[in-house]
Amino acid sequence: MAKTLFFFLILFSSTLLIATANSQIFSRSLSPSKLGLKKEKLSHLHFYFHDIVSGRKPTALKIIPEAAVTKNSSSFFGAVFMMDDPLTVGPEANSKMVGKAQGIYASASQTEVGFLMVLNFAFMEGKYNGSNLSVLGRNAVLSGVREMPIVGGSGLFRFARGYAKAETYSLDPKTGDAIVEYNVFVFHY
Ligand SMILES: *[C@@H]1O[C@H](CO)[C@@H](O)[C@H](O)[C@H]1NC(C)=O
Ligand SMILES: *[C@@H]1O[C@H](CO)[C@@H](O)[C@H](O)[C@H]1NC(C)=O
Ligand SMILES: *[C@@H]1O[C@H](CO)[C@@H](O)[C@H](O)[C@H]1NC(C)=O
Repeated sequence: MAKTLFFFLILFSSTLLIATANSQIFSRSLSPSKLGLKKEKLSHLHFYFHDIVSGRKPTALKIIPEAAVTKNSSSFFGAVFMMDDPLTVGPEANSKMVGKAQGIYASASQTEVGFLMVLNFAFMEGKYNGSNLSVLGRNAVLSGVREMPIVGGSGLFRFARGYAKAETYSLDPKTGDAIVEYNVFVFHY
């Protein structure tokens, strides 16, 4: 009798120990299927980015001006812009919106217009509605095709990696308003 009690006591305390240990595990390896991850796939997204800096309803604003010493810099060195730019299926302003580009572009080159881009594509169309992609890259806006890394994502784009190709579709020299064509290639699950 005492033996059985002792046995149960041991059993009980050891399960208790394991249970406490489990709830306090800091890291462990995990099979991808446990997260519901199936096969990795490659997707291609195509859209137009509207950067409107003029008029009464700009979508991008200069929030930090050039420093005093770079005030006349032809590359706007030091200026920081915040954008909430619409992304549309076609190049027209009234084309169907598929998402927004939300983030910062900052002039990081003293010799040419070279922006540091830190932004999220927040999608609102089809199956990607509510999913986001994060971009961190360099954008020499006056050169031909630029390439920026996709560094991650959320929702359907969890574990995303890839790149975005950007090519200016139109640039109004008077206002600075630009429409940029984007081709995004991204691996995700
Ligand atoms: C910038 O240009 C203005 C007007 O031409 C001039 O007055 C000013 O001294 C310049 N500033 C710098 C830092 O070169
Ligand atoms: C996207 O999702 C939001 C919130 O779930 C919903 O209100 C909206 O209608 C959806 N848009 C499209 C185009 O499906
Ligand atoms: C994506 O970003 C939007 C905001 O733009 C947010 O509401 C949404 O929760 C994000 N999606 C995920 C999966 O985190």
